[in-house]
Amino acid sequence: MSEEAGQESQLRRRTSITLPPQWLSGATSAPKVVFITGASSGLGLALVQKFFEAGYKVIASCRNPDDSSALGQFLKENGLHSAVPMCVGDLDSVKAAYLATRELTSSIDILINNAGVLNFNHSPYDPVMEISASEMMDVYRVNVAGCLNVTQVFMPLVQASYRHPTILNISSPLGSLGLNQGGYLAPYRCSKAALNMLTKTFASEMPSVIFLAVAPRQWDHVPRDAISLASYGSYCGGLGRQAGEIKQDLRYHEEAEGQDSLGCAAAQGIVELVAKHKKEISGSFVYTDGELVGF
Ligand SMILES: NC(=O)c1ccc[n+]([C@@H]2O[C@H](COP(=O)([O-])OP(=O)(O)OC[C@H]3O[C@@H](n4cnc5c(N)ncnc54)[C@H](OP(=O)(O)O)[C@@H]3O)[C@@H](O)[C@H]2O)c1
Repeated sequence: MSEEAGQESQLRRRTSITLPPQWLSGATSAPKVVFITGASSGLGLALVQKFFEAGYKVIASCRNPDDSSALGQFLKENGLHSAVPMCVGDLDSVKAAYLATRELTSSIDILINNAGVLNFNHSPYDPVMEISASEMMDVYRVNVAGCLNVTQVFMPLVQASYRHPTILNISSPLGSLGLNQGGYLAPYRCSKAALNMLTKTFASEMPSVIFLAVAPRQWDHVPRDAISLASYGSYCGGLGRQAGEIKQDLRYHEEAEGQDSLGCAAAQGIVELVAKHKKEISGSFVYTDGELVGF
């Protein structure tokens, strides 16, 4: 028997409980597992690619895997499991996704709540006097309640990680009260502010897990030229998309000339943030480079 195997069997004999696989020899060098929601496009798709390149075991999730050709192609080409179907606003769907994920891994080291929507039903940029309560609730159902659903249901797999389990909730500078100088997009702004508070509350109640609200560096106010947002709905409105729900920023999807798309840059920042973050900052609202964003 090798020295390593002997130590492992001694360890087994000295304890009466079943050891988690991560504690046994060799298992600690297994790749960390990252689970990403809303992975069909934009930042979510870029996160799948960047975490894979960084050597993680990636489990992607999206609403309609069959419609997600870019994601499906990437997963297939790289020998990864097909995406786990999940609508984050539907608790039954989240529970089914959890059961499917348990077949793929015994723990999740990094859970990324990336799925999000930005409704846009009125010009310019949903003025606060024109939005309705139902439009507000549609955004909250995904951006806030969706994160709550996924975090609660997936918590057993996260807590099964012995490697600083971390939950990243993708927020936005538009969710900062302090940075709101110009108004507009109230459903989205309010939902991200609520997401920040949810993150802080989870962090306070569950110190064994690191929680961060992460803002990709993009708009901290609605730029004047963002009127082109109006055309995004018709450009991107595909099947399964609710009326008024849009792809959030084409700059997160397209490659700018000679450089990665903003989504790729933000995803790379998040990979680096995960590698260097400290437990002490759990509950914080940070940019992808770790700089604090004022709540
Ligand atoms: N783009 C920006 O400027 C920006 C800036 C700061 C923060 N963010 C945040 O970054 C995250 C990603 O945004 P993005 O720019 O990459 O936009 P995006 O391309 O519209 O991606 C959003 C993703 O969320 C998914 N999604 C929507 N509703 C869902 C639901 N009910 N269940 C599961 N998945 C759902 C979408 O899936 P489908 O394909 O099925 O619709 C899509 O994959 C969001 O949380 C967003 O708020 C974006």
